[in-house]
Amino acid sequence: MVQFVGVSDIVKLINQVGLETVLRDLADRLEADFKRWPEFEKTPRLASHSRDGVIELMPISDHAHYAFKYVNGHPKNTARGLQTVAAFGVVSDVDTGYTIFVSEMTLLTAVRTAAMSALAARYLARPDSRTMALIGLGAQSEFQAIAFAELVGIEHIRAYDVDEAATAKFVRNMRGRNFSVEVAESAADAVVGADIITTATADKQQATILSENMVGAGVHINAVGGDCPGKTELEAAVLRRSAIFVELTEQTRIEGEIQQLAQDHPVTELWEVITGQVEGRSSRDTVTIFDSVGFAMEDFSALQLIRDIAQQTGHFQDIDLIVEPRDPRDLFGLLTEADAMAEA
Ligand SMILES: NC(=O)c1ccc[n+]([C@@H]2O[C@H](COP(=O)([O-])OP(=O)(O)OC[C@H]3O[C@@H](n4cnc5c(N)ncnc54)[C@H](O)[C@@H]3O)[C@@H](O)[C@H]2O)c1
Repeated sequence: MVQFVGVSDIVKLINQVGLETVLRDLADRLEADFKRWPEFEKTPRLASHSRDGVIELMPISDHAHYAFKYVNGHPKNTARGLQTVAAFGVVSDVDTGYTIFVSEMTLLTAVRTAAMSALAARYLARPDSRTMALIGLGAQSEFQAIAFAELVGIEHIRAYDVDEAATAKFVRNMRGRNFSVEVAESAADAVVGADIITTATADKQQATILSENMVGAGVHINAVGGDCPGKTELEAAVLRRSAIFVELTEQTRIEGEIQQLAQDHPVTELWEVITGQVEGRSSRDTVTIFDSVGFAMEDFSALQLIRDIAQQTGHFQDIDLIVEPRDPRDLFGLLTEADAMAEA
């Protein structure tokens, strides 16, 4: 039997353990996996583009486990009452090749993206950062806000979205938290006084959410929304004056903000900073950017954590995804046995 965590189980599981604890544990696990980066078999994700969206497969292996996520990105979906991003993931045992775990990953992607953003900020943002501008208040936004409050020490959020309903939803969901929320009138207003700027907008175009004149010295930018060819959020001039950090360079050159720059523009992979091989922020005045696109290893870490929590809490189901005939060569026998049982 294969263990399966569906939507209702992941909700129960996160609520039982507490979202803050899950974010903290996931950040620890991500950090540990980034420290063993060379051990992973890595590849950029496989993307199938259509007019309004993309469908992607994100495989990875550490030679003990193989995992992949199936995920889409369809910014126009929200107007149809659907998610922009929806996903599920699989873990297999490399020794047998058998699938051992399947999980929903729409909620889990929001959790892992937020934990990853916060982990990157712990290495790159000024340690005294207390105010964050959050631009784009959709599905990812609350997870980002809570992760930055819990893991980075953010106390004040200046929030902005072009859509008033999204803004109202964010304010309602974040009431009573250990940080204050102030609604800004524009993206330019949101970034005033911000130590960290998170952009998490969705639009399948080269948008300019942040222009050069909006970014002050010493700011850390957590650029989440630009994650596909032709889909960016930052003006190229912002990139040119900043120190840029990426997950897997090969993938980010195709999908990230840096698709706007020359293929040899210098960037640093985050694992090099996390292992202490390369410096992160070089001075208080440096502008740092985490050009986040989402890499398969982050989903691997998230799936492993959820698998452990599912086993501890019992919030999973067994599904008969893989055949189990008495004789592995008598696959046909499964059909005849079922026939015989139906007749009996
Ligand atoms: N980097 C990663 O690992 C990662 C992971 C998940 C999602 N994403 C990306 O993050 C983005 C947000 O995802 P989501 O699930 O929250 O999407 P969503 O559609 O739920 O929310 C996006 C929000 O952005 C707002 N928006 C659009 N244009 C804007 C603008 N010019 N200024 C201000 N707000 C604007 C929309 O009104 C909406 O509320 C998407 O682009 C998604 O593809 C990246």
